[in-house]
Amino acid sequence: MDIALDLGTANSRVRISPEENAIDEPSVIAYDTEDIEILAYGKDAYQMLGRTSAKINVVFPLEGGVIAQSGLVEELVNIFLHEVCTSRVVMPRVVACIPGEITEVEKRAVVGAISSFGVRRVLLIEATKAAAFGTGLDIMSPHGVMVADLGAGTIDIAVMSLGGISVTKTIKTAGNAMDDEIIKYIRRQHGLIIGKAMAKACKEAIACVIKPDAERTFRVKGRDSLRGLPRAVEVTSTEIMQAIADIGVNIINTIVDVLEDTPPELLADIHSDGITLTGGLSQLYGFRELLEKETGIRVRVADDPQDCVVKGCFRATKYIEEAEAQKSSLNPLMTVY
Ligand SMILES: Nc1ncnc2c1ncn2[C@@H]1O[C@H](COP(=O)(O)OP(=O)(O)OP(=O)(O)O)[C@@H](O)[C@H]1O
Ligand SMILES: [Mg+2]
Repeated sequence: MDIALDLGTANSRVRISPEENAIDEPSVIAYDTEDIEILAYGKDAYQMLGRTSAKINVVFPLEGGVIAQSGLVEELVNIFLHEVCTSRVVMPRVVACIPGEITEVEKRAVVGAISSFGVRRVLLIEATKAAAFGTGLDIMSPHGVMVADLGAGTIDIAVMSLGGISVTKTIKTAGNAMDDEIIKYIRRQHGLIIGKAMAKACKEAIACVIKPDAERTFRVKGRDSLRGLPRAVEVTSTEIMQAIADIGVNIINTIVDVLEDTPPELLADIHSDGITLTGGLSQLYGFRELLEKETGIRVRVADDPQDCVVKGCFRATKYIEEAEAQKSSLNPLMTVY
């Protein structure tokens, strides 16, 4: 059995067939602080975020696309794999994604967390490569392809050709950092303290990086910072645009940096084929248009952008034997562990 696993900072996705996700859950886990018993995970644990007592801890154990709390990531991986592995006789092979810029120690931690379940083989593939593969781009030909995967904890950008990565950059100011800026802005401008889930909902509903055609509003609820009592305010998309602007600009500048480091032949290919955006944050209103304006290159958002990486990991399972045979080749599609 072959399993595709995208352990994301905000969401984890698992596929065992090409058509659909077998699992699509927030990467969050709730546990009892006294006996460390796991109380909930995924959507159920997300509901508990900011609503628990001192006895219960709710955490996202991945940060910036890498493992921050290894024991809890191991628990999550085990829950997910257990759910999809019907047979305990045949051990599965797992293809999992990792950010482009990651240390060997961080890679080993991912392999360790997956191996703790008891698997036949772990293969790692860069998220950008998987995303390109998942959205149907040809990364094996001698032709430059550029993908930016915009997630919650990482922005992962790469230029690929001949199955390898030519230039890559990973930054950790992504969707979660925007949520933090929204929290700060609303506290500063409206004297209202809101939680992370409220900030994320506000961003997904009305955030933008260019002036929207029509102003939209969102009602945020929280606690008055002076009186301590519950209060709500209507915020506008223009306000949220101001709150997240610096992060948006930083992402665009990083994409421009990657273009500047790209060899001229590959750059010419990208100029004619365009840039592809994947990941949940690629749906941010106006980002595609702004990037197009700043680079002068055509930009497209992939279909179902949040699923491209896991889709690509699943497509890569077809090449496991090939990867095993070419373990030491220069440009392997994935790394065999
Ligand atoms: N419509 C939307 N507008 C803006 N942001 C959105 C929208 N939909 C989802 N997002 C954001 O996309 C992010 C989640 O994307 P995704 O699931 O690709 O991340 P992830 O894979 O968990 O993170 P990472 O790849 O960084 O580890 C969250 O920050 C979420 O708020
Ligand atoms: Mg991701």
